Amino acid sequence: MDPEVSTSKTRIAVLGAGSVGSAVALCLILNPVSSEVVLVDPNTAIRDAQVKDLGDATTYHGAVGGGGVRIRGGTHKEAGQCDIVVISAGAKQRHGESRTDLLGRNLAILKSATNDMKPFREDTVILIVANPCDVLTYFAQKYSGLPKGQVIGSGTFLDSARLRGILSEKIAVDASSIDAYVLGEHGESQMVAWSCVTIGAVPLDQCLPPNVTLDRKAIARETKDKAAKIIEAKGATAYGIAALSASICKSILFDQRNVRPISHWVDELGCCLSLPVVLGRRGIVRSLNMPLHQEEKELLLKSASTLKDFIAQAKE
Ligand code: LAC
Repeated sequence: MDPEVSTSKTRIAVLGAGSVGSAVALCLILNPVSSEVVLVDPNTAIRDAQVKDLGDATTYHGAVGGGGVRIRGGTHKEAGQCDIVVISAGAKQRHGESRTDLLGRNLAILKSATNDMKPFREDTVILIVANPCDVLTYFAQKYSGLPKGQVIGSGTFLDSARLRGILSEKIAVDASSIDAYVLGEHGESQMVAWSCVTIGAVPLDQCLPPNVTLDRKAIARETKDKAAKIIEAKGATAYGIAALSASICKSILFDQRNVRPISHWVDELGCCLSLPVVLGRRGIVRSLNMPLHQEEKELLLKSASTLKDFIAQAKE
Protein backbone atom coordinates (compact mmCIF):
# COMPACT_ATOMS: atom_id res chain seq x y z
CA MET A 1 0.00 0.00 0.00
CA ASP A 2 1.33 3.45 -0.81
CA PRO A 3 1.99 5.43 2.36
CA GLU A 4 -0.72 7.97 2.99
CA VAL A 5 0.14 11.05 0.93
CA SER A 6 -2.34 13.82 0.39
CA THR A 7 -2.46 14.62 -3.30
CA SER A 8 -4.78 17.51 -2.52
CA LYS A 9 -2.01 20.07 -2.98
CA THR A 10 0.77 18.21 -4.82
CA ARG A 11 1.89 19.56 -8.18
CA ILE A 12 4.23 18.28 -10.86
CA ALA A 13 5.58 20.67 -13.48
CA VAL A 14 6.60 19.36 -16.90
CA LEU A 15 8.98 21.60 -18.84
CA GLY A 16 8.62 21.09 -22.56
CA ALA A 17 5.29 20.62 -24.37
CA GLY A 18 6.73 18.54 -27.19
CA SER A 19 6.31 14.82 -27.83
CA VAL A 20 8.06 13.69 -24.64
CA GLY A 21 6.70 16.35 -22.29
CA SER A 22 3.10 15.89 -23.45
CA ALA A 23 3.47 12.10 -23.15
CA VAL A 24 4.80 12.54 -19.60
CA ALA A 25 1.82 14.76 -18.79
CA LEU A 26 -0.60 12.17 -20.20
CA CYS A 27 0.99 9.39 -18.13
CA LEU A 28 0.72 11.58 -15.02
CA ILE A 29 -2.98 12.11 -15.77
CA LEU A 30 -3.81 8.48 -16.44
CA ASN A 31 -1.87 7.15 -13.44
CA PRO A 32 -2.79 9.88 -11.02
CA VAL A 33 0.29 10.88 -9.05
CA SER A 34 -0.37 14.50 -8.15
CA SER A 35 -3.50 16.62 -8.00
CA GLU A 36 -2.19 18.97 -10.66
CA VAL A 37 0.16 18.87 -13.65
CA VAL A 38 1.55 22.21 -14.81
CA LEU A 39 2.80 22.24 -18.42
CA VAL A 40 5.46 24.87 -19.13
CA ASP A 41 6.83 25.89 -22.52
CA PRO A 42 7.99 29.25 -23.92
CA ASN A 43 5.87 28.46 -26.97
CA THR A 44 2.59 29.24 -25.22
CA ALA A 45 0.52 28.45 -28.32
CA ILE A 46 1.78 24.85 -28.33
CA ARG A 47 1.59 24.69 -24.54
CA ASP A 48 -2.04 25.81 -24.45
CA ALA A 49 -3.02 23.50 -27.31
CA GLN A 50 -1.46 20.54 -25.48
CA VAL A 51 -3.29 21.57 -22.29
CA LYS A 52 -6.61 21.66 -24.17
CA ASP A 53 -5.96 18.23 -25.69
CA LEU A 54 -4.76 16.73 -22.38
CA GLY A 55 -7.74 18.36 -20.70
CA ASP A 56 -10.03 16.10 -22.70
CA ALA A 57 -8.14 13.10 -21.31
CA THR A 58 -8.38 14.26 -17.73
CA THR A 59 -12.05 15.21 -18.04
CA TYR A 60 -12.91 11.76 -19.36
CA HIS A 61 -10.62 10.08 -16.88
CA GLY A 62 -12.02 12.14 -14.03
CA ALA A 63 -15.56 11.46 -15.15
CA VAL A 64 -15.01 7.73 -14.78
CA GLY A 65 -13.50 8.16 -11.34
CA GLY A 66 -9.89 8.14 -12.50
CA GLY A 67 -8.68 10.68 -10.03
CA GLY A 68 -9.35 13.87 -12.03
CA VAL A 69 -5.86 15.32 -12.20
CA ARG A 70 -6.01 19.00 -13.10
CA ILE A 71 -3.83 19.99 -16.09
CA ARG A 72 -2.98 23.61 -16.85
CA GLY A 73 -0.40 25.76 -18.55
CA GLY A 74 1.98 27.61 -16.29
CA THR A 75 5.23 29.53 -16.04
CA HIS A 76 8.79 28.67 -15.06
CA LYS A 77 8.31 30.66 -11.86
CA GLU A 78 5.36 28.45 -10.90
CA ALA A 79 7.37 25.33 -11.80
CA GLY A 80 10.00 26.24 -9.21
CA GLN A 81 7.29 25.99 -6.53
CA CYS A 82 6.10 22.51 -7.54
CA ASP A 83 6.90 19.26 -5.75
CA ILE A 84 8.61 17.82 -8.83
CA VAL A 85 9.86 19.43 -12.05
CA VAL A 86 10.28 17.05 -14.99
CA ILE A 87 12.62 18.64 -17.54
CA SER A 88 12.06 17.23 -21.02
CA ALA A 89 12.65 20.57 -22.74
CA GLY A 90 15.28 20.48 -25.44
CA ALA A 91 16.26 19.31 -28.86
CA LYS A 92 15.82 15.61 -29.52
CA GLN A 93 18.18 13.24 -31.27
CA ARG A 94 17.88 13.11 -35.03
CA HIS A 95 18.72 9.90 -36.91
CA GLY A 96 22.48 9.40 -36.76
CA GLU A 97 22.95 11.86 -33.86
CA SER A 98 24.21 10.71 -30.46
CA ARG A 99 22.58 11.97 -27.29
CA THR A 100 25.79 13.88 -26.54
CA ASP A 101 25.47 15.80 -29.83
CA LEU A 102 22.57 17.61 -28.14
CA LEU A 103 24.74 18.93 -25.29
CA GLY A 104 25.37 22.49 -26.44
CA ARG A 105 21.76 23.24 -27.39
CA ASN A 106 20.19 21.56 -24.39
CA LEU A 107 22.61 22.95 -21.82
CA ALA A 108 21.65 26.49 -22.85
CA ILE A 109 17.95 25.63 -22.56
CA LEU A 110 18.53 24.03 -19.13
CA LYS A 111 20.49 27.01 -17.80
CA SER A 112 17.87 29.53 -18.87
CA ALA A 113 14.95 27.42 -17.61
CA THR A 114 16.64 26.81 -14.24
CA ASN A 115 17.31 30.52 -13.78
CA ASP A 116 13.71 31.34 -14.67
CA MET A 117 12.42 28.83 -12.08
CA LYS A 118 14.42 30.21 -9.16
CA PRO A 119 13.82 30.45 -6.26
CA PHE A 120 12.97 26.77 -5.83
CA ARG A 121 10.93 25.38 -2.97
CA GLU A 122 13.41 23.77 -0.60
CA ASP A 123 11.87 20.29 -1.19
CA THR A 124 11.47 20.48 -4.98
CA VAL A 125 12.87 17.48 -6.84
CA ILE A 126 14.16 17.99 -10.40
CA LEU A 127 13.97 15.02 -12.79
CA ILE A 128 16.06 15.43 -15.95
CA VAL A 129 14.67 13.51 -18.91
CA ALA A 130 16.26 15.53 -21.73
CA ASN A 131 19.54 14.36 -23.22
CA PRO A 132 22.40 13.96 -22.66
CA CYS A 133 20.69 13.05 -19.40
CA ASP A 134 23.68 12.43 -17.13
CA VAL A 135 25.60 15.57 -18.10
CA LEU A 136 22.45 17.71 -17.89
CA THR A 137 21.75 16.25 -14.43
CA TYR A 138 25.23 17.34 -13.31
CA PHE A 139 24.67 20.90 -14.57
CA ALA A 140 21.11 21.06 -13.20
CA GLN A 141 22.59 20.39 -9.77
CA LYS A 142 25.01 23.26 -10.25
CA TYR A 143 22.51 25.71 -11.73
CA SER A 144 19.64 24.97 -9.33
CA GLY A 145 21.58 25.06 -6.07
CA LEU A 146 19.24 22.35 -4.72
CA PRO A 147 20.77 19.51 -2.67
CA LYS A 148 22.36 17.06 -5.14
CA GLY A 149 20.07 14.19 -4.06
CA GLN A 150 17.06 16.25 -5.17
CA VAL A 151 18.35 16.67 -8.73
CA ILE A 152 18.26 13.38 -10.59
CA GLY A 153 18.01 11.97 -14.12
CA SER A 154 15.98 9.13 -15.64
CA GLY A 155 19.34 7.64 -16.60
CA THR A 156 19.49 3.94 -17.43
CA PHE A 157 16.10 3.16 -15.88
CA LEU A 158 14.74 3.01 -19.46
CA ASP A 159 17.68 0.92 -20.68
CA SER A 160 17.20 -1.49 -17.75
CA ALA A 161 13.50 -1.80 -18.62
CA ARG A 162 14.47 -2.54 -22.24
CA LEU A 163 16.97 -5.17 -21.09
CA ARG A 164 14.34 -6.85 -18.90
CA GLY A 165 11.93 -6.86 -21.82
CA ILE A 166 14.47 -8.60 -24.08
CA LEU A 167 15.38 -11.16 -21.40
CA SER A 168 11.69 -11.75 -20.68
CA GLU A 169 11.15 -12.73 -24.32
CA LYS A 170 14.17 -15.02 -24.40
CA ILE A 171 13.59 -16.91 -21.14
CA ALA A 172 9.77 -16.75 -21.01
CA VAL A 173 9.64 -15.09 -17.57
CA ASP A 174 7.66 -11.91 -16.85
CA ALA A 175 9.90 -8.84 -16.78
CA SER A 176 8.64 -8.00 -13.28
CA SER A 177 10.45 -11.11 -12.03
CA ILE A 178 13.74 -10.19 -13.70
CA ASP A 179 16.14 -8.06 -11.73
CA ALA A 180 18.58 -6.72 -14.32
CA TYR A 181 20.46 -3.43 -14.35
CA VAL A 182 22.09 -1.35 -17.03
CA LEU A 183 24.53 1.00 -15.26
CA GLY A 184 26.59 4.08 -16.09
CA GLU A 185 25.82 6.51 -18.90
CA HIS A 186 22.41 6.62 -20.55
CA GLY A 187 24.28 6.30 -23.79
CA GLU A 188 27.09 4.55 -25.64
CA SER A 189 29.29 3.76 -22.63
CA GLN A 190 26.53 2.08 -20.59
CA MET A 191 27.18 -1.46 -19.32
CA VAL A 192 25.08 -4.44 -18.20
CA ALA A 193 25.76 -5.80 -14.71
CA TRP A 194 25.37 -9.40 -15.91
CA SER A 195 26.85 -10.87 -12.71
CA CYS A 196 23.94 -9.37 -10.72
CA VAL A 197 21.05 -10.45 -12.97
CA THR A 198 18.60 -12.65 -11.07
CA ILE A 199 15.31 -14.32 -11.95
CA GLY A 200 13.31 -14.36 -8.77
CA ALA A 201 16.30 -14.71 -6.45
CA VAL A 202 18.17 -17.15 -8.70
CA PRO A 203 21.26 -16.05 -10.66
CA LEU A 204 20.47 -15.92 -14.39
CA ASP A 205 22.90 -18.68 -15.40
CA GLN A 206 21.32 -21.11 -12.97
CA CYS A 207 17.80 -20.84 -14.31
CA LEU A 208 17.89 -20.70 -18.10
CA PRO A 209 15.27 -22.89 -19.77
CA PRO A 210 16.72 -26.06 -21.38
CA ASN A 211 18.37 -25.44 -24.80
CA VAL A 212 18.40 -21.65 -24.23
CA THR A 213 21.74 -19.86 -24.42
CA LEU A 214 22.07 -16.06 -24.20
CA ASP A 215 24.43 -14.03 -26.39
CA ARG A 216 25.15 -11.36 -23.79
CA LYS A 217 27.08 -9.08 -26.15
CA ALA A 218 24.21 -9.14 -28.66
CA ILE A 219 21.60 -8.51 -25.95
CA ALA A 220 23.57 -5.59 -24.50
CA ARG A 221 23.95 -4.12 -28.01
CA GLU A 222 20.22 -4.62 -28.76
CA THR A 223 19.37 -2.84 -25.50
CA LYS A 224 21.73 0.05 -26.23
CA ASP A 225 20.57 0.45 -29.84
CA LYS A 226 16.83 0.30 -29.20
CA ALA A 227 16.35 4.08 -29.05
CA ALA A 228 18.33 4.62 -32.27
CA LYS A 229 16.18 2.08 -34.10
CA ILE A 230 12.96 3.77 -32.92
CA ILE A 231 14.33 7.21 -33.85
CA GLU A 232 15.32 5.94 -37.30
CA ALA A 233 11.78 4.69 -37.89
CA LYS A 234 9.55 7.34 -36.24
CA GLY A 235 11.84 10.29 -35.48
CA ALA A 236 11.87 10.16 -31.67
CA THR A 237 11.11 8.05 -28.65
CA ALA A 238 8.46 9.26 -26.20
CA TYR A 239 6.19 6.65 -24.62
CA GLY A 240 8.80 4.51 -22.86
CA ILE A 241 10.56 7.43 -21.24
CA ALA A 242 7.22 9.07 -20.40
CA ALA A 243 5.86 6.00 -18.61
CA LEU A 244 9.06 5.56 -16.60
CA SER A 245 9.21 9.26 -15.74
CA ALA A 246 5.67 9.06 -14.32
CA SER A 247 6.72 5.99 -12.33
CA ILE A 248 9.74 7.86 -10.92
CA CYS A 249 7.42 10.76 -9.95
CA LYS A 250 5.15 8.32 -8.12
CA SER A 251 8.11 6.78 -6.26
CA ILE A 252 9.10 10.27 -5.14
CA LEU A 253 5.74 11.80 -4.33
CA PHE A 254 4.46 8.73 -2.48
CA ASP A 255 7.83 8.20 -0.81
CA GLN A 256 7.65 4.59 -2.01
CA ARG A 257 11.33 3.68 -1.38
CA ASN A 258 11.54 1.78 -4.69
CA VAL A 259 14.97 0.75 -5.95
CA ARG A 260 15.66 2.17 -9.42
CA PRO A 261 18.79 2.74 -11.60
CA ILE A 262 18.73 6.53 -11.61
CA SER A 263 21.30 9.12 -12.69
CA HIS A 264 22.64 10.94 -9.66
CA TRP A 265 25.86 12.46 -8.33
CA VAL A 266 28.34 9.70 -7.38
CA ASP A 267 31.05 11.22 -5.21
CA GLU A 268 33.67 8.54 -5.72
CA LEU A 269 33.27 8.70 -9.51
CA GLY A 270 33.06 12.50 -9.77
CA CYS A 271 30.06 12.58 -12.12
CA CYS A 272 26.36 11.78 -12.45
CA LEU A 273 25.54 8.31 -13.72
CA SER A 274 23.09 5.50 -13.01
CA LEU A 275 23.47 3.05 -10.15
CA PRO A 276 20.62 1.53 -8.12
CA VAL A 277 19.22 3.99 -5.57
CA VAL A 278 16.35 4.05 -3.08
CA LEU A 279 13.89 6.76 -4.17
CA GLY A 280 11.83 8.80 -1.69
CA ARG A 281 10.11 12.18 -1.30
CA ARG A 282 13.41 14.07 -1.43
CA GLY A 283 14.78 12.07 -4.37
CA ILE A 284 17.80 9.90 -3.49
CA VAL A 285 17.42 8.27 -0.05
CA ARG A 286 20.58 6.20 -0.47
CA SER A 287 22.48 4.37 -3.18
CA LEU A 288 23.09 0.61 -3.18
CA ASN A 289 26.53 -0.87 -3.72
CA MET A 290 26.27 -3.67 -6.30
CA PRO A 291 28.79 -6.55 -5.94
CA LEU A 292 30.17 -6.05 -9.47
CA HIS A 293 32.88 -8.27 -10.92
CA GLN A 294 36.26 -6.63 -11.63
CA GLU A 295 35.67 -6.31 -15.39
CA GLU A 296 32.25 -4.74 -14.70
CA LYS A 297 33.82 -2.24 -12.32
CA GLU A 298 36.29 -1.32 -15.06
CA LEU A 299 33.49 -0.78 -17.58
CA LEU A 300 31.68 1.45 -15.06
CA LEU A 301 34.85 3.47 -14.46
CA LYS A 302 35.19 3.87 -18.24
CA SER A 303 31.64 5.17 -18.43
CA ALA A 304 32.38 7.64 -15.62
CA SER A 305 35.49 8.83 -17.42
CA THR A 306 33.51 9.35 -20.64
CA LEU A 307 30.97 11.44 -18.73
CA LYS A 308 33.68 13.50 -17.05
CA ASP A 309 35.13 14.26 -20.48
CA PHE A 310 31.71 15.48 -21.67
CA ILE A 311 31.40 17.69 -18.57
CA ALA A 312 34.88 19.14 -19.22
CA GLN A 313 33.95 19.79 -22.88
CA ALA A 314 30.76 21.57 -21.81
CA LYS A 315 32.71 23.80 -19.45
CA GLU A 316 35.12 24.94 -22.17
C1 LAC B 1 15.61 6.97 -25.14
C2 LAC B 1 15.78 8.44 -24.91
C3 LAC B 1 14.89 8.92 -23.81
O1 LAC B 1 16.54 6.21 -24.78
O2 LAC B 1 17.14 8.78 -24.63
O3 LAC B 1 14.53 6.59 -25.60
